[in-house]
Amino acid sequence: MSIHATMHIVSPSRRDAYFDWLQMLTGLGLVIFMALHTALNLSIIFGAKSLDIVAGALEVLHLDTLAHVFVPILFLVHFVLAARKIPFRVDGQLAIWRDARLLNHRDTWLWIVQTISGMVILILGAIHMWTTITAGAVQAASSVARVQSSGWTMFYLLLIPLVQGHVFIGLYRIGVKWGVITDKMRPKVVKILVITFAGVLILALLALARYATLTI
Ligand code: HEM
Ligand code: HEM
Repeated sequence: MSIHATMHIVSPSRRDAYFDWLQMLTGLGLVIFMALHTALNLSIIFGAKSLDIVAGALEVLHLDTLAHVFVPILFLVHFVLAARKIPFRVDGQLAIWRDARLLNHRDTWLWIVQTISGMVILILGAIHMWTTITAGAVQAASSVARVQSSGWTMFYLLLIPLVQGHVFIGLYRIGVKWGVITDKMRPKVVKILVITFAGVLILALLALARYATLTI
């Protein structure tokens, strides 16, 4: 191998640190998107007209097109980076399961929940994005009709807790991994995250209840 070629090889540990950064950044990008997405969906609570105003504003600003392009890319890159850590072979899975039971350590259990929820979100999120992106402009009438058609209420009833849980566990993991949450702060931060998670979950379910019961 020439000297020139070897100079371009990045050591595995540096490459891994770089991928960890990217994984956190893609996770954070998706968290910011989900926060906006959940907030905008809440407009349905105030009726069809308010959702149409919000959706119309997004369209004027071309934010919908931006989301249609960048969110699927973020989603895919985040999955590929996170997949480095997922044991796909049975012996690896059994080892993690054994460790989790042996250590009974909260963070190990949270990691298992994060991985399983991520894989279900991968499937449901891809179906959801395909459906909403190909349907074109967001309108209350079409969203209400979709949620009220076969199976979609159940679909969202499953996706809401999974994705909101993944968001809050993800934020906790980032805080611990990058040293933002110190041991001393941990109980207080956990309490704040759990309370915020419960509030967001209730609001998102309320929005779903409106989609499922509105008559237009
Ligand atoms: C809207 C969708 C998603 C959001 C908001 C999101 C958010 C996050 C965040 C903030 C983290 C913490 C980042 C870190 O530890 O560096 C994370 C970790 C993780 N995510 Fe996601 N994610 C989403 C979709 C997915 C999908 C589709 C998968 C597919 C398998 C996935 C699998 C994982 C895994 C396995 C981890 C833990 C990685 C580790 O141990 O370092 N996520 N996610
Ligand atoms: C460009 C991407 C996206 C678009 C255009 C979009 C659009 C929509 C629309 C229009 C609805 C209303 C219900 C319906 O029409 O069926 C909705 C609801 C919902 N979406 Fe998305 N979405 C996107 C990405 C995502 C992602 C990545 C996730 C998480 C994996 C997600 C999770 C949800 C959930 C859980 C609901 C139920 C409403 C609630 O939270 O209360 N969406 N989305």
